[in-house]
Amino acid sequence: MKVLAVLYNGFKAAIEEPRLLGTVENKLGMDKWLTARGHEFIVTSSKDGPNNDFEKNIVDAEVLITTPFHPGYLTRELMEKAKNLKICITAGVGSDHIDLNAAVDHKIQVLEVSGSNVTSVAEHAVMSMLLLVRNFVPAHEMIERGDWEVSNIARNAFDIEGKVIGTVGAGRIGYRIMQRLLPFNPKELLYYDYHEIPPEAESAVNCKRVGTVEELVSQCDIVTVNCPLHEGTRGMINDRLLSAFKPGAWLVNTARGAICDEYAVARALASGQLRGYAGDVWNVQPAPKDHPWRTMKNPLDGGNGMVPHYSGTTLDAQARYAAGTKSILENYLDGKPQAHQNVIVGAGKYETTSYGIH
Ligand code: NAI
Repeated sequence: MKVLAVLYNGFKAAIEEPRLLGTVENKLGMDKWLTARGHEFIVTSSKDGPNNDFEKNIVDAEVLITTPFHPGYLTRELMEKAKNLKICITAGVGSDHIDLNAAVDHKIQVLEVSGSNVTSVAEHAVMSMLLLVRNFVPAHEMIERGDWEVSNIARNAFDIEGKVIGTVGAGRIGYRIMQRLLPFNPKELLYYDYHEIPPEAESAVNCKRVGTVEELVSQCDIVTVNCPLHEGTRGMINDRLLSAFKPGAWLVNTARGAICDEYAVARALASGQLRGYAGDVWNVQPAPKDHPWRTMKNPLDGGNGMVPHYSGTTLDAQARYAAGTKSILENYLDGKPQAHQNVIVGAGKYETTSYGIH
């Protein structure tokens, strides 16, 4: 059986640091195990451009493993060529790089390692809020330049305490963010999600549900996006929604880049409608060198907290998602049932309601 994995290149770092399991070099730590079982294991980072390895090898692969950090985009067209494909496993969380509706139609299962990196992302989101609200990046850059002008930083630095903070999506990550924010004494924690949080969980973080995303953003000083990318969320944060934000709000998106219109965000930041934007996810990955989010700034030359996609790929997270990927694959090979929380698309139907209600 052929197993194809699309992972990112780790280069020298992956040789020096074997815990970088999600790399081409370290092969999720399962190369020996899989080949000893007699399977062919192709691992590549080549996924774009003509004649890439991903498109070449998908035609006869039975299993596809992809990581959201370097996504091989499995379109409907490509799926139609993948005659042997039975199961796609996301080494991490977030399976939007796969056309899920096409997977339903082709009865290809899609699984992810649910929960594997949700704490890692929640920590990153809280860090991003802090660095935006406290105007950290320009302060550090000033120090590196050899300058020292406190007022130029302090004029746009605030506290998280006393702010209204809201999450779009209150699943594993969104909820963990609220748990971590509670000790900062926000004025209010709000969420918008078509799933209600159970009352005990809601009172544990003292949060309130609002009825629409517009209602959420119009009340918040800080908005964080924590829903999957699907047809109901693609481009959701556009010029129209951004104009409903409180002027000067901060926006943190560690969910998926394509949930935001990249140009609308850059415009809102340049005009000051957004005071800051931070996150690690981009609508195309790797992001092109001229992507507006690399260099966009607010009118005071700050407000950009963008980094490459790594919040969910800390070494701690890699250990968890590598183990989870192996366990999903082992269940598949041994014909054992899969843990239900990992199944996004089962045989011919959605098994989760996180990617929209189908
Ligand atoms: P989850 O499935 O536990 O929660 C997602 C929540 O979003 C669900 O409660 C769902 O009802 C809600 N939702 C879906 N559509 C919505 C909409 N239109 N409006 C409001 N809420 C909506 O998923 P989890 O584990 O919290 O992950 C969320 C997303 O975070 C993933 O799908 C992935 O895209 C992203 N992620 C990013 C990582 C990174 O490294 N930056 C790593 C892990 C996940």
